[in-house]
Amino acid sequence: RKTAPLPDDIRARKGGTPIVSLTAYTTPMAELMDAHCDFVLVGDSVGMVLHGLPSTLGVTIEMMILHGQAVKRGLQRAMMVVDMPFGSYEESPQQAFRNAARIMAETGAGAVKLEGGQGMAETIAFLVARGIPVMAHIGLTPQSINTLGGYKVQGRGSAGARLLADAQAVAAAGAFAVVLEKVPQTLAGRITAEVPIPTIGIGASAGCDGQVLVVDDMLGLFTRFKPKFVKRYATLGEQAEAAVAAYAEEVRTRAFPADEHVFADAAPEAKS
Ligand code: KIV
Ligand code: NA
Repeated sequence: RKTAPLPDDIRARKGGTPIVSLTAYTTPMAELMDAHCDFVLVGDSVGMVLHGLPSTLGVTIEMMILHGQAVKRGLQRAMMVVDMPFGSYEESPQQAFRNAARIMAETGAGAVKLEGGQGMAETIAFLVARGIPVMAHIGLTPQSINTLGGYKVQGRGSAGARLLADAQAVAAAGAFAVVLEKVPQTLAGRITAEVPIPTIGIGASAGCDGQVLVVDDMLGLFTRFKPKFVKRYATLGEQAEAAVAAYAEEVRTRAFPADEHVFADAAPEAKS
């Protein structure tokens, strides 16, 4: 594949080879995942992962645009999806369109993602009808943490029927895919079987049509806490700290910089 998939290409992967996605917030990280991911998500998790915010609620549209622009510069093959931050779309379909259009225009995103099920269906339809592909996000929706009452598993017991209705509503509204976050395995499988668009799981089992993880979580760079659904494929945070400690020691003992890092008084003779 030479060019980025379109949202319709992602939609067409329903039931096929699982869709691969990670978050990215910077150009170099986008570059190294470009060949391996079908789409890259500029998640509002950037607020917690890179900016040290206590939740995603403080993330602004300017932050999403700046990181979206950085990620886009690192991508040639993967599609980019940018999260709409808290407060930028909930008020009305019109507000959502205005901010989604700005994100699309200023970042070159292929789609936006927003949180919510039945309550956001009208907004999703409004955006899609006006040329903005939308990825939905249901289950644990971190922007609603203050009304959900914590980061707990969503859809257990009788709440399962409501989550299935949410998935059906966003699909009917025209979303091209839906993220299922922190949903029990059986329910995730049932939603995946019953909705016509791909489900992208995070803490929702291998039964989904694709998976997404926060890249700093799976690389072991973000270690303040580790949700059960995260698998660490590397321990880059530990390696980075060890490198910093080694550097500090070598500076203090004048072992660094060494001869190969310094400059002579005269430029070396040109080779003939
Ligand atoms: O912000 C984010 O990283 C996300 C994914 C975890 C789905 O929304
Ligand atoms: Na998000």
